Amino acid sequence: MSTPDFASLFPLPSADVLRALGERMREGLLLFDGKGNTSLVNRAARQMLDAEQSPVLALGAKLARFLPPAAMPQAKESGSWSGSLPLGERVVILQLYHQPGEGRDVYLALFRNLEGQEDYERELQQRHAELRQAYLRLNGTQEKLLQSEKMASIGQLAAGVAHEINNPIGYVHSNLGSLQEYLRSLFTVIEAYERALRAPDPKASIPEIDDIRSRLDIDFISRDLPQLMAESREGIERVTRIVRDLKDFSYSGRDESWKLADLHAGLESTINIIWNELKYKVTLERQYGELPMVECLPSELNQVYMNMLLNAGHAVAERGHIVVSSGVSGDEVWVEFKDNGAGISPELRQRIFDPFFTTKPVGSGTGLGLSISYGIINKHHGRIDLDSTVGEGSRFRIILPIRQPKG
Ligand SMILES: Nc1ncnc2c1ncn2[C@@H]1O[C@H](COP(=O)(O)OP(=O)(O)OP(=O)(O)O)[C@@H](O)[C@H]1O
Ligand SMILES: [Mg+2]
Repeated sequence: MSTPDFASLFPLPSADVLRALGERMREGLLLFDGKGNTSLVNRAARQMLDAEQSPVLALGAKLARFLPPAAMPQAKESGSWSGSLPLGERVVILQLYHQPGEGRDVYLALFRNLEGQEDYERELQQRHAELRQAYLRLNGTQEKLLQSEKMASIGQLAAGVAHEINNPIGYVHSNLGSLQEYLRSLFTVIEAYERALRAPDPKASIPEIDDIRSRLDIDFISRDLPQLMAESREGIERVTRIVRDLKDFSYSGRDESWKLADLHAGLESTINIIWNELKYKVTLERQYGELPMVECLPSELNQVYMNMLLNAGHAVAERGHIVVSSGVSGDEVWVEFKDNGAGISPELRQRIFDPFFTTKPVGSGTGLGLSISYGIINKHHGRIDLDSTVGEGSRFRIILPIRQPKG
C-alpha cells in the first residue's frame, strides 16, 4: 500500500488562511530562496529578527547573514540543518530545511526563542570561558611542575655532583701544593747554579750542586712534574665537563627549540651527572648502535634518560646491572634502559605512568618521573614500550621519530 500524498487528503487552505495560521505560531517561520528573497514570514520571525519595520523581502537575506557558513550548504546537501544561533541579544534554536523546486533553492527556517534557555546558553558560554581559563592555567602548572621536578631532581643530585666535582678539585688542590714545593726546590737548585756561575771556579761547586739536587730529589721532581700537570689538567677538564653537562641539563625547557641532536651525547651527559647516584650499586653497559641526528628537544630528553636511569637504579636492591642500548628501525630510533631489578607486576604496569603514582616511601619519590617522561615523549610523537618480569627486571624502550611530523 502506498502512502498517500498528504496534500491530496484535503484541498490546501487558501494562502490567507495559511498566513493567518502562521501569524498565530509562537515559532518563527521564514520561507526564502537561495538568493535570500523572502516568500513568507510570520510575526514571530519578524520579532526575533528584530525586523518589524524592515522590508519583508530582505528578511531571508538577513537571516542568512546570521547563519554559520556551513548551514545552508549542509541543508542543501542533506535536506536539513539545525543549531543554535545568536540573534542580537537572544539565542534561538533554528531548524533549516531545503527543497529544490521551480528553478530555485527553497529554504524553510523554523526558529524558537530560548526563553528559559537563554540563561542556560549564556551560562554554557561562561562555563566554556572558565574551562578555557582552567585549561590554560593547568597547562602553565604542568610546565611549572616539569620545571620544579627538574629542579627537585637536580637538588637531589646536587650532593652527588658536588662530590664528583670535589674529587678532582681535591687532587688538583693537593697537586698545586706539591707543585709549590717542587718550584721551591727548583729555584733552590737554580740559585745554586747562579752562585756557582759567579764563583771564581764554577767547577768547584759541582759536588755541592749534586748534593742539593739529590737532597731535593730533583730527578723525581722532573719525572713527577709532567704527570702531576697532566692529572691536574684532567681534573679541571672533568669539572668543566660536569658543569657543562649540568648547564645542558638544567636548560629551561620552556625556551628550548627543536634541534637536530646526537642522542648519545645527551645520554652521556646525563650518565655523567647521575653516575654518582648509581656507581656504588650498578654496573653500566652501553650497547649503542649507529644513530642519525634526531629532531628533538635535547634537554627534555635528558630528563627522560635521567628518570629511566634513576628508576632502574632504584629497582636494584643491592647490586645490579643496567644496559643502555640504542638503534634505528625504519624512520624511528630507539633508546632502551634495561635493568635486572625488582620488575613491575602487571597490575602496577597500568599505573606507573600516572602522575604521583609511586611505590617509594613517602617523601622519597614524587611519582612524577614517568608521567613527565611520558609527556615529553608524547610531545616528540614517540612512545614508550615496557616489558617487565617480576624478579627479573624491566626494559623501558623509548621510540622516537627521526624527524617530527610536519605541521
Ligand atoms: N625500572 C623500574 N623497575 C621497577 N619499577 C619501576 C621502574 N621504573 C618505575 N618503576 C615503578 O614505577 C613507579 C613510578 O615511577 P616514577 O618514576 O613515575 O616515580 P618514582 O620513581 O616513584 O618517583 P620520582 O618522581 O622520584 O621519579 C615507581 O615508584 C616504581 O614502582
Ligand atoms: Mg622515578
